[in-house]
Amino acid sequence: MNRTTARTAHLRAAGVSFVVELTGPLPRILHWGEDLGELTDEDTEALILTADGAVLNSALDIPRQFTVWPTEADGWSGTPAQQGHRDGAATTPRVRLTGVRQEPGELVLRLTDDVGDLGVVLTYRLDPSGVLGVSTEISRPDTGPGQDPAPYDLAGVTTLIPLPHRAGEILDFTGKWCRELSPQRGGLRFGSHVREVRRGRPGADSPYLLTVGVPGFGFRTGEVWGFHVAWSGNQRYLAEQLPEGAGVHGAVLGGGELLAPGEVRLAPGDSYTSPVCHFVWSDAGLDGLADRFHTLLRARPSHPASPRPLTLNTWEAVYFDHRIERLLRLADLAAETGVERLVLDDGWFTGRRDDTAGLGDWTVDAKVWPDGLTPLADRVHGHGMQFGLWVEPEMANPDSRLAREHPEWLLAPSPGLGPSWRNQYVVNLAHQDAWTYLLTSLDEIVTRYSVDYLKWDHNRELHEAVSRGAGGHDRPGVHTQVSAVYRLIDALKARHPGLEIESCASGGARVDLGILARTDRVWASDCNDPLERQAIQRWTGQLLPPELVGTHVGGPHSHTSGRVTDESFRYATALFGHAGIEDDLTARTPQELAGLRRWAALYKEVRPLLHGGRVVRADLADETTLLHGVVAGDASTALYCWVRLATSTAAQSGRVRLPGLDARGRYRVRIRTDAGLPALHQTSGPAWFTAALDGWVTLPGAVLVGAGLPMPTLEPAQALLIEVSALDGTPAQGLDGSRPAPATRPGAGNPDA
Ligand code: DGJ
Repeated sequence: MNRTTARTAHLRAAGVSFVVELTGPLPRILHWGEDLGELTDEDTEALILTADGAVLNSALDIPRQFTVWPTEADGWSGTPAQQGHRDGAATTPRVRLTGVRQEPGELVLRLTDDVGDLGVVLTYRLDPSGVLGVSTEISRPDTGPGQDPAPYDLAGVTTLIPLPHRAGEILDFTGKWCRELSPQRGGLRFGSHVREVRRGRPGADSPYLLTVGVPGFGFRTGEVWGFHVAWSGNQRYLAEQLPEGAGVHGAVLGGGELLAPGEVRLAPGDSYTSPVCHFVWSDAGLDGLADRFHTLLRARPSHPASPRPLTLNTWEAVYFDHRIERLLRLADLAAETGVERLVLDDGWFTGRRDDTAGLGDWTVDAKVWPDGLTPLADRVHGHGMQFGLWVEPEMANPDSRLAREHPEWLLAPSPGLGPSWRNQYVVNLAHQDAWTYLLTSLDEIVTRYSVDYLKWDHNRELHEAVSRGAGGHDRPGVHTQVSAVYRLIDALKARHPGLEIESCASGGARVDLGILARTDRVWASDCNDPLERQAIQRWTGQLLPPELVGTHVGGPHSHTSGRVTDESFRYATALFGHAGIEDDLTARTPQELAGLRRWAALYKEVRPLLHGGRVVRADLADETTLLHGVVAGDASTALYCWVRLATSTAAQSGRVRLPGLDARGRYRVRIRTDAGLPALHQTSGPAWFTAALDGWVTLPGAVLVGAGLPMPTLEPAQALLIEVSALDGTPAQGLDGSRPAPATRPGAGNPDA
């Protein structure tokens, strides 16, 4: 839905409006956020009339504007949209509007920078989910003789959108190996809140989704504005507030790719395309933002459509011990347990007996696998399971044939290699021979063993990532490297259309919508400890729906935290994603295997709901408890997980409201015991819980959503699964009419909040 008048363009979708005034010399953003409805000419005039602030003391002599391409030329003293120079000159761009095109849901602005000798195409696309994607192409036209041949050094392209003054609190993320996506919150202050990622991948401390909201926003309430860069290399996130504001607005939000000096040099005829910058708004808190992203991703033609197969990954089961008998036994037990995909992790290729050697040599180790991978692949396929394989194509150990025969393929500066990381270096994918070698090797392995799935790992950061040139003329290489890995995955998938790929980077160090445009899920963390995982999965889900996030049941004793946890807690935690097992089944007792079988059956039963419904997270006063779940789009079924992370002084939970259901509906509730029960820190009750342990208990939506249920007090590191199912007549009439239905207005208006 959009409308263009001579003076404005108005994109509308799913309760979001984005209005741009198409004025000269540069358009300005009048509004981004709540739907303003159909704007009449009179409304538009009023919006324009009210778009100017006062002229301040000791300031510009005209009201400040915040344009679509903010620079000093329009009096903007904050981070500019464009930075660069041509041979030390042309540092002050003068950009003007030269063309406008509007398609349904899309606004394309053509700009010209007469100083920099550049053309800009700025594309705003408001997806039906309400997510606004912005991409920028900057090109240097080739105008022939008389043109300054010096390249334009593009130092940065920053996409910025203004925020209102009421947006005053920031949430973003940090983290480390095995503790990805740790949230950090604070007030938005004057100045720049800048997160720059120089790791050559988003990193375990990825800012992920920079969110600014009305102070006190929660999962279910509050107006919030979020930003994500769909890019797997260096990047920049920014929230900036100047005392004078941004035009009539309060602050700005945005970012883009972080370019190294000299990384992008535009000679006549060259161009640069930015990654897509995603902007998302909701008046329904963080769940509202997540809902919009989930809707965006689920609508992609490439989104996984088949039921997400229960997976067994061999890493924590066998590590580098690839004795075939052991692996065959594991495959047999996996099949008996209900596993649908077995992934052979690191250790299968030539020379790879530990992590010091072999990386880069993508042929099967003949010493360990004298008959190739055929015996295992055949056994796995024979059981009707899919066969997956671990690879790490972008890396090499110095102790590998690749590094020995082609030292020039490594991404390193002329003075030599810097320190290794996990005994490895990065392969320069911009080197055509290296790229072709990797495509050919992967293609061969996938073809020979009918590989259904690749776990694509990336276990070091890119430091001194330059392509070596003659005479030490080394050129920055992160942008080229990321583009090349995208091309590599695209080319491999083109040859193997059914092949699925997981993005792993020592766990969750490469989780972004750029890599996810060509992969099918992410490995959120190497930590399978359910206590850590509750937090990691909760926040990974801020962007990704559960079916895109690998969640595996580990053994009782976590390999990465040392913590010992109960089976039922591990099961309940791993259920809420693309579930799998990361454990040595040969070491499990028959009782434990029976428990796993019941859990596997439960996963298969509930995955249509979990992988298609809306993710909900309750706002609770006690931070040692969590309530999260998935509710069907029509609010007819739901599965909730009530979690206690640690003890707390609050002995009772009080009434806890179950978000996402229809307050006017009629429901029944029961406790799922298939995967075991949590240990309780109490004597008995509450009464509904005792009854729901035995079977369905009828409870109206008004109680579930409005009043809430008193929850049993669990011991620390325990979780309870609560299933809710509608009785006849629910969803109540009018759910899709008198109030916004999720399919038409994701991310907005949680009536139950
Ligand atoms: C790091 C990954 O995150 C692990 O899951 C595992 O695949 C190892 N690499 C293998 O080397």
